[in-house]
Amino acid sequence: MIPRHDPRLKSFASDNYAGVHPEILEAIASANGGHQISYGDDVYTDALQDVFKRHFGERAQAWPVFNGTAANVVSLRAMTAQWEAVICAESAHINTDEGGAPEVAGGIKLLTVPTPDGKLTPELIDRQAWGFGDVHRAQPKVVSISNTTEWGTLYTPAEIAEICAHAHDLGLLVHLDGSRLTNAAAALDVPMRALTTDAGVDVLSFGGTKIGLLYGEAVVVLNPEAATGVDYLRKTFMQLSSKMRFVSVQFEALLSGDLWLRNARRANTMGQRLAEAVGGIPGVELARTVEANAVFAVLPKDVAERLRKRFRFYTWNEATGEVRWMCAFDTTEEDVDAFAAALAEEMAAAGR
Ligand SMILES: Cc1ncc(COP(=O)(O)O)c(C=O)c1O
Repeated sequence: MIPRHDPRLKSFASDNYAGVHPEILEAIASANGGHQISYGDDVYTDALQDVFKRHFGERAQAWPVFNGTAANVVSLRAMTAQWEAVICAESAHINTDEGGAPEVAGGIKLLTVPTPDGKLTPELIDRQAWGFGDVHRAQPKVVSISNTTEWGTLYTPAEIAEICAHAHDLGLLVHLDGSRLTNAAAALDVPMRALTTDAGVDVLSFGGTKIGLLYGEAVVVLNPEAATGVDYLRKTFMQLSSKMRFVSVQFEALLSGDLWLRNARRANTMGQRLAEAVGGIPGVELARTVEANAVFAVLPKDVAERLRKRFRFYTWNEATGEVRWMCAFDTTEEDVDAFAAALAEEMAAAGR
């Protein structure tokens, strides 16, 4: 088939605008042919458990699902009873960008906290960790954090360990939305278990799509006492893939060697390059320090509109004109330089 799109065209909208990494496509092809037992009783899904254990420890157990919203909903539902609630940052993806799925599909009450940079701290958690034993209040049970956060910031292993210790002292569990955990680990140059298992995280939503998979995320239970019924909930929430071998083989290709790290390092390096390139353009103000692969900047609205006709990207805050530029595993130096040049042109054309 002739492609309907221009494969050379890149954007800075999201790392899920990227296609599939060639090594992942090869892995999918290698799993093709013949018959395998459906619904996860295939040899690829079986092998996957060891791959996840190598990264997250002997107690880790992974359940592949279709997308990140579902990984979050299944994880959180498995961690809470009907009367229990989840504390998260107001900016958390589960609160802002999942169409209400945790509440509507999962029936999970979210207790949100405003944060300056998308990160919770023990003090911020305490703003919602109260009312234990009060039948009138949804009972706090889980603290959910994202790494990287929706504002492109990072939690260090020490910060996560502090949150987990505080949460556990209060009788709360910790969920980590790791849609971009690979980027966080690569940026901090630590193994992924340093940000999860070793820090005390109980359940992880592990992201594959943004780092090169065709599709696929996983619920990874790190503490078996923290979640019940994942097997059943995955089906209840319509996430049990019948041809699961093709999801599992992608994770194997991503995680059994260093593909995850290569991809994350590239995306992060391009984030740094982009920040340096655009930071030098008069009138462009970087809004936050760049910690992984997301760059935030404040742009005049007319410039943003014109630039968007050349490269897609999202406005993150309409009121302030803050935009987000996201680099992906396939972003190249040339893509970054072309984007920075286009921005400089549009700023100059607007007389800024
Ligand atoms: C922090 C975070 N969590 C979860 C997701 C998963 O979303 P999806 O359901 O689109 O796979 C995303 C995607 O943008 C995300 O940025």
